[in-house]
Amino acid sequence: TYLGLAGDTAFDTAMAKLTFGDNADLSRIRTAQAPGGSGALRLVAELLQRTRAGATVWLSDPTWPNHMPVMRAAGLQIRDYPYFDAASGSVRFKDMVAALRTAERGDVVLLHGCCHNPTGANLDAAQWAEVADLVVERGLLPFVDIAYQGFGEGLDADAAGLRLLAARAPEMVVASSCSKNFAVYRDRVGAAMILAKDSAQADVAMSQMLSAARALYSMPPDHGAAAVRIVLEDAALRADWQAELEEMRLRMLRLRVGFAEALRRQSNSDRFDFVASHRGMFSRLGLSEAQVERLRTEHAVYMVGDSRINVAGLPEDGMDALAKAIVSVLD
Ligand SMILES: Cc1ncc(COP(=O)(O)O)c(C=O)c1O
Repeated sequence: TYLGLAGDTAFDTAMAKLTFGDNADLSRIRTAQAPGGSGALRLVAELLQRTRAGATVWLSDPTWPNHMPVMRAAGLQIRDYPYFDAASGSVRFKDMVAALRTAERGDVVLLHGCCHNPTGANLDAAQWAEVADLVVERGLLPFVDIAYQGFGEGLDADAAGLRLLAARAPEMVVASSCSKNFAVYRDRVGAAMILAKDSAQADVAMSQMLSAARALYSMPPDHGAAAVRIVLEDAALRADWQAELEEMRLRMLRLRVGFAEALRRQSNSDRFDFVASHRGMFSRLGLSEAQVERLRTEHAVYMVGDSRINVAGLPEDGMDALAKAIVSVLD
């Protein structure tokens, strides 16, 4: 038989708690299992299109390349806000806030919950608080995409910005992915969440979202989410999972520090120190396309054309050789 439009409801509850925290007021929150984080993004986008047709969604510049087509496919308009300063590897927070101050009431602001993809640069606690004040003051709807919870500072710390928004904003929407933190990429496990003003409005929004799911894919797949639910509900399995996730997180951190140190040694400068303070699987090194091309042809070092690297793929025992190659193509 089918699962039902909202999928595995025990999975939904477990995901709401993982995301909003164990003590969250679930009466205002509704969750629908979705086919991956991408499916959750699209489902939320459809809900937005039904409730505020043609609304503008503000995306960070740059952002994960799928955000734009997914939002557009639902009929939403796109604007972007400045986010990343390639030279310093940091967030252009002042510019970001200035751009969002021009947003109209009812506009939607899409934020990466943690581990910003593709840049690796993230908001700190004070910046999240400022964004929360801004969205409340200007009547904007926060839309948090959280695809790497547990990969940055830890499971709860990575959701801290999202939880701060949830405590202050009257309404918000969330798309969450289990692809990375549960390693279920191929099983398509994600969750679309609504935080509404009150329980009655949450029910109305949820019925709209489920009716959108019916038109998109009907029922979500079962087994990946069931596996996640079993792990989250069983104390021993959950402890194992958290320990493995923490091991992965610390490994990425170690690789970041090792890579930044090798780059400092090879370049005799602090130009790439930001790699150590970035979080998540990715960082953008700030190289030009021509430099990325030279790395490919002259050194057999491969990265995305915009100089995004996957930190998990760095060679632990070959950092200096890699750093040397990178430094050799700098101007
Ligand atoms: C920022 C971001 N959001 C969402 C996703 C969605 O992941 P999936 O659809 O595989 O769960 C990804 C995957 O790379 C991502 O980087």
